[in-house]
Amino acid sequence: MKIIILLIIAYLLGSIPSGVWIGKLFYQKDIRQFGSGNTGTTNTFRVLGKTAGTIVLLMDILKGTFATLLPTLFHVNNINPLWFGVCAILGHTFPIFAGFKGGKAVATSAGMLLGYSPIFFLYSATIFVVSLFVTSMVSLTSMIAAVLITLSTVILPEIWPQVLPEHNWLLTLIACGLTIFIFYRHRDNITRIKNGTESHIPFGLNRDK
Ligand code: G3P
Repeated sequence: MKIIILLIIAYLLGSIPSGVWIGKLFYQKDIRQFGSGNTGTTNTFRVLGKTAGTIVLLMDILKGTFATLLPTLFHVNNINPLWFGVCAILGHTFPIFAGFKGGKAVATSAGMLLGYSPIFFLYSATIFVVSLFVTSMVSLTSMIAAVLITLSTVILPEIWPQVLPEHNWLLTLIACGLTIFIFYRHRDNITRIKNGTESHIPFGLNRDK
């Protein structure tokens, strides 16, 4: 029973639509009506600017982190903490507090990794930033990073055990599932990337000028 309640709490945490609420509360703007219409960090930066974007990024990451830490905080040890991160990611993408229309799973997935292993999170964040520098597109970077991070869950224990000491096949399985899900959530972005109309951010080699 305790596990089910905590899984529901993880989903509810993930459901907090930070971009929508911050936009409405502090900017009198519903970010779903502007830019890409997405509720996540990238569209918050695009529509509301750096301060709101940074706050939403932190909130969306921390939702995943806190959810993943729930079993540790409440002394539940007969279920893998990653499942609580997955519930938060489901909440983030299908939020009960915002008509089940949420983000694209990226920041909250990163938060799950932070709760799972801070050093693997740092490694993953580095992959993300390097890819973002090269592409200047958050959407493309999110998909590239998802693939590389999934592969890393298999390869790192062999070549760099200081970052990921042992194989966790559940982590690999969840990373595979999330990668497919992230591609699916970015299907409009994929069309725009193919058409050359995807928006670029003002950072990196292909920055928006
Ligand atoms: O995390 C979402 C990002 O990858 C793309 O967002 O607003 O450009 O569709 P957006």
